[in-house]
Amino acid sequence: MAHKGLQAVRGMNDLFPEDTVAWQALETILREQLRRYGFGEIRLPLLEHSELFARAIGDVTDIVQKEMYTFLDRNGDSLTLRPEGTAGVVRALIEHGRLRGTQARLYYVGPMFRHERPQKGRYRQFHQLGVEMFGLADPSSDAELIALSARLLDSIGVRAELQINSLGTPEARAHYRELLRQYLRPQTERLCPDCRERLERNPLRVLDCKVESCRTVAADAPRLLEHLDSESAAHFQQLRSYLDVLGISYRVNTSLVRGLDYYHRTVFEWVSDALGAQGTVLAGGRYDGLVEQLGGPATPALGFAAGLERLLALRALAGSAYPAARVQLFLGALDPQAMAAVLQRAEALRAGGVAVVVGGPASLKVLLKQAERSEAQMQAIVGAAQLSGDGAPIRLREQGGSGTWEGSWSELESGLRSLGVDFGTPPPHTERNPMATRSVT
Ligand code: HAM
Repeated sequence: MAHKGLQAVRGMNDLFPEDTVAWQALETILREQLRRYGFGEIRLPLLEHSELFARAIGDVTDIVQKEMYTFLDRNGDSLTLRPEGTAGVVRALIEHGRLRGTQARLYYVGPMFRHERPQKGRYRQFHQLGVEMFGLADPSSDAELIALSARLLDSIGVRAELQINSLGTPEARAHYRELLRQYLRPQTERLCPDCRERLERNPLRVLDCKVESCRTVAADAPRLLEHLDSESAAHFQQLRSYLDVLGISYRVNTSLVRGLDYYHRTVFEWVSDALGAQGTVLAGGRYDGLVEQLGGPATPALGFAAGLERLLALRALAGSAYPAARVQLFLGALDPQAMAAVLQRAEALRAGGVAVVVGGPASLKVLLKQAERSEAQMQAIVGAAQLSGDGAPIRLREQGGSGTWEGSWSELESGLRSLGVDFGTPPPHTERNPMATRSVT
């Protein structure tokens, strides 16, 4: 048990092997789908200069104003633990001159940090799979990106509703923002304290506030979709027709505005009602202005990110379970001489693909306990007698089963094979869900 006072930071989770098997299986499936869409993985620092996020996500967003983990390092530089991945990807592409006239398809998997109020499905350190595409302006790319998001969710058996909207260009949005303020100002009294504050600095956020009285006010607000510039309206229409062709169903949600300021035109979210309040499992959109805004060449771009904790929670609800990777053999030594032989043999077996843990030198009683605790598929315990060549056999025993084998030390491999131990492949992570047909090794 942890000593009182030594605890993980609130909202940050520890994951043990019985947890990480599900994470690994999930990532394996998602990475395979991304390969099929031509995406390559990018790995970036968790820390960036604070200024990057203020400039990319927007000064007036909740993330930048309230949620970032920001500190001064020993040089007095202001650094921030990344609250999301898009800003870092854009920074890296600009810094390494990788954007001129080329397209890029990148993804990342890793932790993000936001100082939000922790609750089920919302953490202060959480994990995202993020996907970013650069150099593509046509609405067919928005459709391809959304098709990828649909396929990712489908491949892991997650059901959710796709909601889409268009935010238009920044100019159209500025015009609309003023219209919205004019509509909201006479109703200030009916708004929650947060929205009263949002009204002047970021009135679009009032539209997706969850407080009932704000929702009532928002219901009759003028709709951004009806005030789009003509090019954005055409882009949105074209996207919708591509989604129809692809057979991807969606709902147009005119109050979908997203919590980050970099979006232009298309925004979308996949929302599940099985997770309570934190139902958005995957979200993103187009951000054509961001690369230029951060000092790079004008480059259209789009992407999304999915919360891995939320995907895993949905999979658990659907009954997916993963047995922890199992050790195949516990090999115990009763004395120091046997220990040397055991260490050597364990190395040879591992080189041949078998998962082995060793124990000893110790008494038979202690070794039997250790063998049981290891939950290994098989166990064998050896001492001087078995190794001296005087004929005392080695006994292999199946733990939790009735299989046994006896033979000489030199024949141990064939004994393992005869009891069905799998050589050459790692222990399988098979899904126990009887409904699932997918093998996730
Ligand atoms: P976001 O909507 O802030 O977008 O986050 C994307 C997803 O991350 C959410 O839908 C949710 O599943 C998960 N998530 C966010 N905050 C938390 C939290 N505190 N705890 C658990 N899960 C969370 C972005 O981050 C954008 N960078 C997405 C994007 C990429 N847009 C374009 N490219």
